[in-house]
Amino acid sequence: MNLYINQLQKKADFKEAIYAGDIFLNTELTSAKELCAFAQESITAAFDGETDHHALHRMMPVEDFVALVTRLKGQFTNSQRAKDLIRAFTLEIGVDPQDYIFDVPRVRVVPNYNYLHAGVSYAYKPHRDTWYGSVDCQINTWMPVHTIKPEQTMMINPAYFDVPVKNTSADWSLSEWINTQRHRAKDNLTEERRVHPVPQEEINGASEVRIAGNTGEMLIFSGSHLHGTVPNYTDNTRFSVDFRLMHLDDLKHKRGAINVDSACPDVGAGFKDYFHAHDFSNFQGIK
Ligand SMILES: [Fe+2]
Repeated sequence: MNLYINQLQKKADFKEAIYAGDIFLNTELTSAKELCAFAQESITAAFDGETDHHALHRMMPVEDFVALVTRLKGQFTNSQRAKDLIRAFTLEIGVDPQDYIFDVPRVRVVPNYNYLHAGVSYAYKPHRDTWYGSVDCQINTWMPVHTIKPEQTMMINPAYFDVPVKNTSADWSLSEWINTQRHRAKDNLTEERRVHPVPQEEINGASEVRIAGNTGEMLIFSGSHLHGTVPNYTDNTRFSVDFRLMHLDDLKHKRGAINVDSACPDVGAGFKDYFHAHDFSNFQGIK
């Protein structure tokens, strides 16, 4: 696996590198920093003006925290500002927004594990997004909203990029998730009762990479990488922002990362949530 630093906008064939498992870290993107600044504003607004974001979980019972996180997520994901900044991101890295669609941006909130690790703050077990019905050409972005430590980040385990992992994706349905399970996030407080696609074998963490960045420092990687949430046992809540891009032509021609083990039966069931990057019209699927 290769790691490119601040080269996304300089490498014309960056998609191919991502499909091959390479990871990009871009620390100087204006659009990324603005998206994080917007996330910070959104967090403060959702939590009634509180600016000490790290300490939010220490200030209230978990039920209240879940209600406010639910409000935050809805507001951020559906905002025009976040969409504008994703388009700005495509322009900043030098691609044509007409060529791309994106999945709605999300803000993730990971408080101390013992306080909450289910529902709105589900700690993702190692997975590929393709297990969750994503396409092979999905390009993931991820960045911390505030400076984080390795104990609070997301992990990527590049050793498994082209090595199969026994998993339950064949028995998991994206349609069922979208229509029924997703809305139940706020009802899961103490344990995650919703079914996720998970590994059925021990994952060797020896080559796990935990990148701890600062606000707006963005990782860009294939959704086919094995990745997951690092359980946060620190006393600070971690906030991150992510969104996903797909190149239309690659989607159409089924280009992308190698599929070594994903068997989700309804890949693409989430297409209706995707937007064209140039005009934010809804993606109507592959014609
Ligand atoms: Fe994921």
